[in-house]
Amino acid sequence: MHSPIAVIGGAGRTGVIITRRLLEQGHRVRVVSRDPERAVLPPAVEKHRADVRYADSLGDALRGCSGVVFTVEPGTADSGPHSPETTVYDGVRNVLAVVADGGRRPHVVLVSQIFVTRREHPMNAYGRLLDWRLRGEDEVRASGLPYTVVRPSWLTDSDVAGARVRLEQHDRGNGWVSRKSVAEACVQSLRLPAARGRTYELYNEPGKEPTDWGPLFDRLLPDRVPAYLGPVH
Ligand SMILES: NC(=O)c1ccc[n+]([C@@H]2O[C@H](COP(=O)([O-])OP(=O)(O)OC[C@H]3O[C@@H](n4cnc5c(N)ncnc54)[C@H](OP(=O)(O)O)[C@@H]3O)[C@@H](O)[C@H]2O)c1
Repeated sequence: MHSPIAVIGGAGRTGVIITRRLLEQGHRVRVVSRDPERAVLPPAVEKHRADVRYADSLGDALRGCSGVVFTVEPGTADSGPHSPETTVYDGVRNVLAVVADGGRRPHVVLVSQIFVTRREHPMNAYGRLLDWRLRGEDEVRASGLPYTVVRPSWLTDSDVAGARVRLEQHDRGNGWVSRKSVAEACVQSLRLPAARGRTYELYNEPGKEPTDWGPLFDRLLPDRVPAYLGPVH
């Protein structure tokens, strides 16, 4: 039996789509949620109760996984348990520490967002969300694990902006992307080696959804790992 893939936030709106697609592809899937019994999930999933803010809650959920998708809503408080610092910075660090324990090297797919490098954006007024997201990304890039950082543009529940997918790098754009496309990006990033060590932004545009993500990933530049991970000022 294959090693499972853990979807942290797998009971959320994008997470459920990721979970279903992974199951369709024959993977074992662990949905990691603070309250997995509340969620309506396919019967085949393994449900794990855990919270990224508490490293000691994550061991059973992440043990033995070959892949981990982190798609966690960050919260907007300036500090404390519902702050981005706690969820998408400390939370990412907790996950990385737990998965690396025991010598396994799962592929980590981090769902982040566009605008993380544009600190002046008003979103950064909410708990310095953009700063902490970027710091979480940096931790993943510096982890030494195989990884992909996916930066969705603004999320929609339909393909109102189109079903075609455009990948960009360097965080200059703006636009919309469906949760379905984000989910597919995560699944394909786990599947295709060309997505490893890459950070990319994700947009929809008019046209058909891709049947092969290989050429999209092939055009991406590899990341440069930040030399210095200092505190946010
Ligand atoms: N809204 C946008 O336009 C936009 C744009 C770009 C990126 N994003 C990001 O894309 C991702 C997916 O968005 P979405 O709207 O599909 O998400 P969502 O439906 O809000 O689901 C997010 C999940 O995060 C989980 N979560 C929150 N705190 C957690 C914790 N401490 N430990 C474990 N799990 C926790 C929740 O799971 P449980 O309640 O089951 O624990 C929830 O199901 C999120 O990271 C979001 O911030 C959003």
